[in-house]
Amino acid sequence: VAATARRLPELEALVTEAAAEGGRIVAYPCDVTDGAGMDRLVAVVEQVHGPIALAILNAGVAPKSAASLDVATFRQVIDVNLMGVVHGLAAVHPRMAGRGRGRIAVNASLAGYRGLPGAGAYSASKAAVIALCESLQIEAGRAGIVLQVVNPGFVETPMTRDNPHPMPFLLPVETAARRLCDGLEHDRFEIAFPRRLAWIAKLFRLLPAGAYFALMRRAPTAKGEAERAETQR
Ligand SMILES: NC(=O)c1ccc[n+]([C@@H]2O[C@H](COP(=O)([O-])OP(=O)(O)OC[C@H]3O[C@@H](n4cnc5c(N)ncnc54)[C@H](OP(=O)(O)O)[C@@H]3O)[C@@H](O)[C@H]2O)c1
Repeated sequence: VAATARRLPELEALVTEAAAEGGRIVAYPCDVTDGAGMDRLVAVVEQVHGPIALAILNAGVAPKSAASLDVATFRQVIDVNLMGVVHGLAAVHPRMAGRGRGRIAVNASLAGYRGLPGAGAYSASKAAVIALCESLQIEAGRAGIVLQVVNPGFVETPMTRDNPHPMPFLLPVETAARRLCDGLEHDRFEIAFPRRLAWIAKLFRLLPAGAYFALMRRAPTAKGEAERAETQR
């Protein structure tokens, strides 16, 4: 497995952890916002290890707290979550298409189904990623590539560690990884989990805007949770 992220020490820790369990991960530090860098990286990986059979485009960021229309935050989230995926696809898709086979899994989120209050940049980036994968799916299929979009609910990772808002059906990362691997063994376009939250999100997607907003207004917010914790103290 060739793994990419920006922080080398974190990547090296992953390499050591895999080796201790008899696996082999090779670290290739790169920033997904660097399109030319991503293309070079994929070329090197294929030169050293051979054709990539499965590419998981996973890098993502979620701002912890920012004004809903903070332009710099928006740009950073779109650069990583959307353009990072575009760079990954642009590097991997033509190579796989040339060979007539391959599999690409793109990590989006159930948060991309509808605009979540207080998560404008994140929801917008993930909605765009889902739409991008839908647009590309037929072309990819004709080229012999299985393109899949991964829509997780809440998973226990550093991204969600200090989330102040409620996280229904929060999954341990090992369970989420298992669900992802199970999904990769089939060719279904969408890999969504946990199932209960995915169904709720799918129902929300069918609601007219007015009904969706009415439900969201009643949903517990980060601010409400903080106020409740304060009164309980
Ligand atoms: N956790 C959840 O509840 C949840 C739910 C739905 C979807 N997701 C999605 O799942 C994916 C993984 O999230 P996670 O929860 O594992 O988050 P995480 O713990 O914060 O990990 C994010 C990973 O992305 C890498 N990354 C961030 N910016 C990058 C960049 N510019 N270039 C290269 N790598 C970069 C980080 O490494 P470096 O910082 O070293 O670069 C890190 O390895 C994301 O796309 C996220 O949106 C997560």
